[in-house]
Amino acid sequence: MEELLRAYSPVTMAREVVKETTVSGCPVKPGNMVLLSFPAANRDPKMFPDADKVVIDRRENRHAAFGLGIHRCVGSNLARMEMQVALEEWLKRIPDFRLDPAGTVTWSQGTVRGPRQLPFLLGKAM
Ligand code: HEM
Repeated sequence: MEELLRAYSPVTMAREVVKETTVSGCPVKPGNMVLLSFPAANRDPKMFPDADKVVIDRRENRHAAFGLGIHRCVGSNLARMEMQVALEEWLKRIPDFRLDPAGTVTWSQGTVRGPRQLPFLLGKAM
């Protein structure tokens, strides 16, 4: 779950600048919008070896999918529990499934992302 959160970080946030300053050497002015690209941070090769690979048993995984700092997601523990229960119950009831190779996965766009169409096949592959 943590690795999927890292690799597919579903939430991006933005901030409106209120005071002139610089961020990592980049000047920003009041009214400017700054994108907090948690998904990009989570693919930073300095932080994560093989950052573009899903390494399902990745050990060090200090990802920022729930944000950082004072606005960090207050629902992160509930979200983690919901995802764990959902995955456990799914795997109990539907242990055998796979992506439909004839189908196309489509994704929502914008600041909250996830698959919108995920064609899959039930049962063991023949
Ligand atoms: C996988 C599920 C979730 C992800 C990836 C996620 C991610 C995030 C992110 C990235 C932020 C923004 C941090 C920022 O603005 O700097 C955030 C904020 C927030 N999240 Fe979540 N979230 C999830 C689930 C939930 C749930 C289940 C709840 C509540 C039941 C929740 C409540 C909130 C609230 C209230 C904030 C605003 C906190 C603030 O501005 O101080 N989130 N979340």
